[in-house]
Amino acid sequence: MRVLITGSSGQIGTNLGIALVSSGHDVIGIDVRPNSWTTAFPTVRADLTTDAQPGDGVIGGAKVGTVDAIVHLAAHAKVHALVERPRGAFENHAMVTNALEFARMNSVPIILASSREVYGNLGRRENPVSETEADFRSSPSPYAAMKLASEALASSYFRCYGLPYSIIRFSNVYGRYDDDLSRLERAIWVFNDMIKSGRPVTVFGAEKTLDFTYIDDAVDGLVRCLTRLVDGDPEVRASTFNLAHGTGHSLIGVVNLIAMTRNLQPDIRVESSRPGEVTWYVADITRARDALGYQPQTPVTTGIPRAITEAMSRGS
Ligand SMILES: NC(=O)c1ccc[n+]([C@@H]2O[C@H](COP(=O)([O-])OP(=O)(O)OC[C@H]3O[C@@H](n4cnc5c(N)ncnc54)[C@H](O)[C@@H]3O)[C@@H](O)[C@H]2O)c1
Repeated sequence: MRVLITGSSGQIGTNLGIALVSSGHDVIGIDVRPNSWTTAFPTVRADLTTDAQPGDGVIGGAKVGTVDAIVHLAAHAKVHALVERPRGAFENHAMVTNALEFARMNSVPIILASSREVYGNLGRRENPVSETEADFRSSPSPYAAMKLASEALASSYFRCYGLPYSIIRFSNVYGRYDDDLSRLERAIWVFNDMIKSGRPVTVFGAEKTLDFTYIDDAVDGLVRCLTRLVDGDPEVRASTFNLAHGTGHSLIGVVNLIAMTRNLQPDIRVESSRPGEVTWYVADITRARDALGYQPQTPVTTGIPRAITEAMSRGS
């Protein structure tokens, strides 16, 4: 199949594009930035917030041709940055609108990237969080609010136009093509940078516990969902999936794993969580297991040492 990936120069887009190409599919990427990680697939440069109306094989004013599906990943993905500049969340929603319009006009199924942020702060608890627990009244940040609005818009396209879609709620995806610290401040790489340079490691939230997803697991779940959606599987159409590992890890534990891999002793300083941050999340991945056959392979105890060792071999 030929797949249009938006946000294809980003972390998940790059990894997904490479995985699809290596299994014989054709990929066309679209992003406002060139891809600095790979030349495995072409990237059309375009701004998806544009008002230019999508049309026959056209999105963001750029020609991408005929595709079998679109995976919409493009977004401003820094949650805290959108607390400071909420207009960025509105731009995310504009991109989703353009992606959905492209899917409608070209009659192709669409996967939308959402986030565990949509659950808000449910607080520390016994049970993992299932897909039905998202509620717009608990939106912790403009980023989360607009992800929920985008999910609602996709659902309306299904009802009004019969557009097949799936929503994937990612959670702290890490592991490859994500250590461009000058652009994004992913927790693992921020910690890694502090540890290797001997600076104190600031952790926002002593109790903060999150569900970290190794990139190959995230891509595996995404590809499983994509192939089923394109094949018209009714279990996947108009469905929402948590894709995560399904276990929680404290940020302090993550810092210790990174330091252990580097054979260094971290100087950890704990501060309060920042406004808009989720402080506890463990995903219930039962639905993804049942409908997609998703079975994550890499816990943080393996994934973080692997990611850090790979980064060290690149001199990072
Ligand atoms: N990585 C995670 O842990 C995680 C967790 C939850 C949700 N998500 C969601 O998954 C998706 C992909 O995340 P990612 O980690 O690959 O993010 P990323 O920032 O690495 O990639 C997003 C890409 O979108 C592009 N983009 C931004 N504005 C654009 C515009 N106006 N026009 C065209 N392209 C534009 C960026 O240039 C970037 O390459 C995002 O929607 C994000 O919100 C990611």
